[in-house]
Formats: sequence, C-alpha cells, structure tokens
Amino acid sequence: MPEKERIIEYKKDEELTVIWKPDTCIHSANCVKGLAHVFKPSERRWIQTENASTEELMNTIDTCPSGALSYKVKGHASESLEIKNQDVMDLEVLKDGPLKISGEVKVKHSDGREEVREKATFLCRCGQSSNKPYCDGAHSKTGFKE
Ligand code: SF4
Ligand code: FES
Repeated sequence: MPEKERIIEYKKDEELTVIWKPDTCIHSANCVKGLAHVFKPSERRWIQTENASTEELMNTIDTCPSGALSYKVKGHASESLEIKNQDVMDLEVLKDGPLKISGEVKVKHSDGREEVREKATFLCRCGQSSNKPYCDGAHSKTGFKE
C-alpha cells in the first residue's frame, strides 16, 4: 500500500466527476459488466465518461462494492463518499474470497500509518494479495476455495 492513496478524477462535465481509487479495487468487474462502453480496463484512459449519461454512470458506480469508484455531483455525493455512523460493525466472510467489513473503518498499519476506509473494506483471506491487508482480486486468479 503506498503512503498516500492514489486518487484519480475523471471529469464528465460541470455536473459530474468520477473518482477512481486504484488501490481499493478488488476486481469484481461490476463496473465493466454494468457499462462496458465506459469502463475499459485494457485501454489507457480506462474510464470514458463521455460514453454514458450522468444517471447511467451514477447507477453503475453505486454497484462498486469496494468504494474504488465513486463520484462527485453538484449537490449530491455517491454512497461511497457518505460517512455513516454505526455502532455494530458488520463482518462478512465472502465465499472463495475476502473478508468484507461494511461501513467506515479506521485501519492502523504495522508501521503506525493510519487510514480511514469508507463504504466497505475487503481484507485478503487467501494470502495472495500484493496489497495486504487488502484484497486485490488475486483470489480469483489463484482459484482460492474456502
Ligand atoms: S471493485 Fe469497483 S472499480 Fe474495481 S472492478 Fe469492481 S466495480 Fe470496478
Ligand atoms: S482474498 Fe482477495 S486477494 Fe486474497
């Protein structure tokens, strides 16, 4: 995990800006399945906001489970940017995949660094992630079953 989380912005127009946090992506591909003509992982500019309406972009981005994708729109923030208060933390063991913690969580790393994760955090359970303690999607490539 880099010292500072990478955040890349893709402005659609005066209304909408898509926010991309590559280190948070767990490669679920919800974005690609939802809007294949916008989210093109094999292309250099992989998010092509001009190929969909603001509403289509917002609806698909809201399906991103990890919070890697979010958006800023005038007068509205995506669920990924909302910070919710909760007393009880939900921890879910995903079949053949990572541990999912829902909601805002503060992570303290072994080197003392602290960061706040929003929406959901996916912790590697297969041991193969290059971005530990987070899942980076490696479980699906290595065929992790549990
Ligand atoms: S985690 Fe989000 S950004 Fe990454 S592939 Fe899935 S939907 Fe796309
Ligand atoms: S559980 Fe996803 S990379 Fe390990």
